[in-house]
Amino acid sequence: VTDNGHVQPDSSRIHGILTAYLQSKAVFVTLELGIFDILDKEPYTAADLAGQMGIEQRPVRALLFALQGLQLVSREGERYQNTAEASRYLVSGKPEYMGGFAEHQDQHFGNFAKLIDAVRENRSITQRVLKEGYSNQGAAAGEGREGTGRLIQAMQVSSRLQAAQLARSAEMSHITHLLDLGCGSGAYSAALARQYPGLRITAMDYPAVCELASHVIAEAGVSGTVEVRPADIMRDPWPQSDAILLSHVLDGYGSQAEKVIEKAYTALPTGGQLFVHGHMPSLATGLFPFLFGLILLGNTEEGEVHDADDVALWMRRAGFHDVQTSNVSVLSGLITGIK
Ligand SMILES: C[S@@+](CC[C@H](N)C(=O)[O-])C[C@H]1O[C@@H](n2cnc3c(N)ncnc32)[C@H](O)[C@@H]1O
Repeated sequence: VTDNGHVQPDSSRIHGILTAYLQSKAVFVTLELGIFDILDKEPYTAADLAGQMGIEQRPVRALLFALQGLQLVSREGERYQNTAEASRYLVSGKPEYMGGFAEHQDQHFGNFAKLIDAVRENRSITQRVLKEGYSNQGAAAGEGREGTGRLIQAMQVSSRLQAAQLARSAEMSHITHLLDLGCGSGAYSAALARQYPGLRITAMDYPAVCELASHVIAEAGVSGTVEVRPADIMRDPWPQSDAILLSHVLDGYGSQAEKVIEKAYTALPTGGQLFVHGHMPSLATGLFPFLFGLILLGNTEEGEVHDADDVALWMRRAGFHDVQTSNVSVLSGLITGIK
């Protein structure tokens, strides 16, 4: 900033963007090597850490510098230790551990070497989600149940930043039975069940996903009011309800997305309410929703970020009235409408 208050532009912001990939990758590698776990027990010098891991000191020093810059380790004299943030989120076995989420992002990172092809040819790299739905119950081709598990953990980690906020901002005290379609980890059903103890919820997803969601629901102590029901929501009938939640479901789909909203309109009784929650850039406050379309490009055949104006238009076109938008979190927004 100059004396007269003008900001002198320089290239530092662009430099930061162009080198941002180093930040994630440094953490992916550190997690893979278990370094945060080791440093959580006691502080280590670079030499001792290298000895403990059986690798050369030079790469360990490079990693430790990177982590120090990212404020994930701190240095006192010659010894390094985890910062409080790293200790809370990046040490395995801790309740808020984000390792599965990191693995999921690292897989995206690997695939992004081919992002140019996905952009040029409008082609999914992993085929995780096909035009008609998820190809393999949440996993990408060849990933098996481990892939489904990783996806669920990834969802749980991001729902931590959204579910409680959604439960607070979506007014549901007048609702008796809610369908949570494509419930994923079940974190939203769990948060809503806790917020509204009188609310009955049916949470639906593919069978492999439901198995994992059932654990989350049981752990949250809300199995009494939340029923987890395996189904293909694009093909199977939905139970009667007076409200429907679609959280992060529409963006997996292209032309089918509007059809799901039409199906919701048909399924609901007059006065019934639809809640659409997702990474809508114009309603969220953070950067990630703007970037999320690249993940969809790599992983889905037709999916894309559907912003609030599109979703609101589809809802009005289906017949919903009182269509309203609001911010939910750094990652998401909410659109509601009444039949
Ligand atoms: C991105 S996740 C969102 C999960 C959860 N609602 C949330 O907000 O965290 C999308 C979920 O929709 C589910 N899904 C998508 N299409 C589906 C279908 N045709 N039948 C059942 N589940 C489906 C996926 O399996 C996945 O769990």
